[in-house]
Amino acid sequence: SADKPLAGRRAIVTSGPTHEPIDPVRYIANRSSGKQGHAIAAALARLGADVTLVSGPVTIPDPQGVRTIHVERADEMRDAVLGTLPADIAVMVAAVADWRVAASAEQKIKKQPGEPPAPLQLTENPDILKTVGHHEKRPRLVIGFAAETENVELNGKAKLERKGADLILANDVSPETGIMGGDRNSVRLIEAAHTESWPDLSKEEVAERLALWIAARLSGERS
Ligand code: C5P
Repeated sequence: SADKPLAGRRAIVTSGPTHEPIDPVRYIANRSSGKQGHAIAAALARLGADVTLVSGPVTIPDPQGVRTIHVERADEMRDAVLGTLPADIAVMVAAVADWRVAASAEQKIKKQPGEPPAPLQLTENPDILKTVGHHEKRPRLVIGFAAETENVELNGKAKLERKGADLILANDVSPETGIMGGDRNSVRLIEAAHTESWPDLSKEEVAERLALWIAARLSGERS
């Protein structure tokens, strides 16, 4: 129907940071709040989509009308996303930690008097967007974010290709923009053959516009 253009469509959204354990009490993380991903999940649901949100640890509430799966680590997030396929739409907004501790300790690591701290050996995390973008059950629309502090457009284009995405929303997350953890966002939409800039908007407005963009794109493809 006109106000539920995504009725009958399944969507997967990731949001928030991941926490990668060092030992049972310590972890590696980043400053993602989950605000943008959660807003996108809610906006897709308002347009009628059946939405599964896979969220890392955040302090904001689960969005209404959305099935939310809570995870901590990148490998848990990947498993939850792949377990939710097939879907028509995937929007990977989570700020997944690029690295995890290679062998996290079972017990709290104790400081040893007079000894230097033990070095942390890191290993690469799975790239969830790239996995979904190249999956045999690849959703019709695969969308990613690119948080960059420089060369936003160039890096966004490269990311689009590498990840097998249809659309990248690139934003400048330099500290002076206040975007990371803030309430506003200023994004550039990067497709293979087209680029456009959206004005500075609230994260809710970015979500609303993106949900409408997705609905328009999918409606053009209905046979
Ligand atoms: O490579 P980079 O982290 O800059 O790419 C950002 C995009 O890739 C975001 O959409 C993010 O959610 C996704 N991503 C992911 N899994 C990772 C790293 C990034 O899904 N391990």
